[in-house]
Amino acid sequence: MIRTHDNAYVGYVNACPHDGVWLNIGSGDFFTQDRAFLKCGRHGATFEIDSGLCIDGPCNGKNLQPIALAVVDGEVCLCGERLVEDDRPFDAFDDHDETMDIMIHPD
Ligand code: FES
Repeated sequence: MIRTHDNAYVGYVNACPHDGVWLNIGSGDFFTQDRAFLKCGRHGATFEIDSGLCIDGPCNGKNLQPIALAVVDGEVCLCGERLVEDDRPFDAFDDHDETMDIMIHPD
């Protein structure tokens, strides 16, 4: 999930359309040095932040897989994604950690 310069939010599956690896593989960075584009750490594909379109690299013309987001009461929410937490039985006393943790099922 990325907050854009105009305070909109876009989200993409963290998988390069070229070879399926995490975009931040290697250095851990998602962005080009000027932070104007997303990049893949493996072979250097460059993607527009707003559209997810690859504009340079081995997957030129392909798109990152978008994830639908919605802002609800100031919170950015994933839409239509199955979370690991959805598969666990609810136990209100199970998790005493108040930090947010979200894990998305890999394909
Ligand atoms: S795996 Fe991303 S550019 Fe090759």
